[in-house]
Amino acid sequence: MWAGIQRFQVGEDGDGAHLVRKAEEAGDDDYTRAVRLFVAEEQNHARLLARLLAAGGVPTLSGHWSDTVFVRLRRLMGLRTELLMLMIAEVVALCYYRALHEGAGDPLTSDVAGRILSDEQRHVPFHCERLHASLARLPRATRRPLMTLWRLLLLAVSLVVAVDHGPALRRLGTGRLRFAADVAASSGAVVSAVLAPRPGG
Ligand SMILES: [Fe+2]
Ligand SMILES: [Fe+2]
Repeated sequence: MWAGIQRFQVGEDGDGAHLVRKAEEAGDDDYTRAVRLFVAEEQNHARLLARLLAAGGVPTLSGHWSDTVFVRLRRLMGLRTELLMLMIAEVVALCYYRALHEGAGDPLTSDVAGRILSDEQRHVPFHCERLHASLARLPRATRRPLMTLWRLLLLAVSLVVAVDHGPALRRLGTGRLRFAADVAASSGAVVSAVLAPRPGG
């Protein structure tokens, strides 16, 4: 279980400054303020997980290649693509914290995972809303293929995570297949929200 928490702790301690800069460049002050709050919440997740690891006498990792690759890739992108990439991490994280919250069998770990989970459950709709507005500016015919591509990418990432964290997920009582199915279900909800027709949109 600790290896998974170590890995997600590094992931939470991500690359907020770049996202804030891209939000600033988009020229929407309200959105930039919301993004700053979002980044602060993610940093708080990293802090909570670091303290949980400390309570278990487990060191934090200084970095993991998958996060380095992810962060480098994201830096090259515009806000829309960055949000789509970030959303992959958010959906995977949501499903992981749900599994950890429900299956940790340790009150402190379950409590920390529950706190992070309730933030992540709001992060996903927050990004959905921005992506909905952002995709509305693309030609209608390109929106669904883009989200299908996103879903395939998420499926691939979730399979890598399921294999990588397989033994830990099994100990949490979730298992690889249930984890991948949970990610697939959550991704369906994201696609519906992002593509949902809205009055005037
Ligand atoms: Fe988080
Ligand atoms: Fe998040």
